[in-house]
Amino acid sequence: DGPRRIQQTSLVDLNTRAMHYYREQLKASPRAIDYLKRRGLSGQIAARFGLGYAPDNWHPLAECFSDYATNAQLNEVGLVIDHADSGRRYDRFRDRVVFPIMDGKSQVIGFGGRIIDQGEPKYLNSPETPLFQKGLELYGLPQARQAIRASNRVLVVEGYMDVVALAQLGVEYSVATLGTACTPEHVKKLMRLADQVVFSFDGDKAGRRAAWRALENSLALANDGKTLSFLFLPQEHDPDSYIREFGKDAFETLIEREALGLVAFMCRELASQVDLDSDEGKAKLMHLAKPLVEQIKAPALGILLRKKLAEMAGMDGGEAAQLLG
Ligand code: UTP
Ligand code: MN
Ligand code: MN
Ligand code: MN
Ligand code: MN
Repeated sequence: DGPRRIQQTSLVDLNTRAMHYYREQLKASPRAIDYLKRRGLSGQIAARFGLGYAPDNWHPLAECFSDYATNAQLNEVGLVIDHADSGRRYDRFRDRVVFPIMDGKSQVIGFGGRIIDQGEPKYLNSPETPLFQKGLELYGLPQARQAIRASNRVLVVEGYMDVVALAQLGVEYSVATLGTACTPEHVKKLMRLADQVVFSFDGDKAGRRAAWRALENSLALANDGKTLSFLFLPQEHDPDSYIREFGKDAFETLIEREALGLVAFMCRELASQVDLDSDEGKAKLMHLAKPLVEQIKAPALGILLRKKLAEMAGMDGGEAAQLLG
């Protein structure tokens, strides 16, 4: 009966058991609890997101899961690393705060683990598995769904900690892409969730690059009935640090006042790449804009964008239309 029972353990079951195991370990780790407290998180919010702690130990999962999972299964789901060449086998997550990643149906499909205080790598994630494809999933979706519906808004951030800290301070409609750029599949999912999609990546260079990638992947999907906007935080901030320093009202005011629409963001970014005082710069603006404009299918947005570009290049509508198609 033993082996059969092992076979019936699905990968989701295994992850769910691991989540419970890590939850129990958190209760027994004052150091991990203290770390979460120092980051402003309450026990209640930790429970809501299923946060846990992976102990500083090489084999706990392989040992205490031996009754209901084979090593091959633990390896397949990414919880255990198996070195075929050396025969060494050990838990992937060790001495880290663990964030379970759930899909839209609240099934645990993977984990992210943050090192406590300093160290490299700062985050470790489950590998891509049959359950977990990073380009498709949005961290925090089950916890955010109700607030997304109520506000008709979804806020997209980079990090696990951003989502959890925002929720702690009352901004419950946020989800994170998982350390990857925002893919077209992410954008499609986001646009089905709410009429207003607000991207707010980190204020650093990587965050600004991520915002541009999100814009590129949104062009073909933009729709005149939806709003896609981009919030740029001060250079040294991410949503977690910003809301902890300035509070919920300041953060939401920033969304209202500072978020740039798709057209405004694109024009500002392109303008920063050329010298609009020269004819060559204006020509280059149209040259850079053309392949982007061509992707936009939303009729009104397309017209407004062409009009704005024409103004920037000092052309009339007809001339711009000739160039941009
Ligand atoms: P950040 O470096 O901005 O992390 O990466 P953070 O969430 O603000 O980290 P804290 O506040 O110092 O805890 C954003 C996201 O990119 C992924 C993670 O998903 C992280 O939340 N990432 C980052 C990794 O996967 N690995 C890394 O080493 C770093
Ligand atoms: Mn090896
Ligand atoms: Mn960052
Ligand atoms: Mn960050
Ligand atoms: Mn951060």
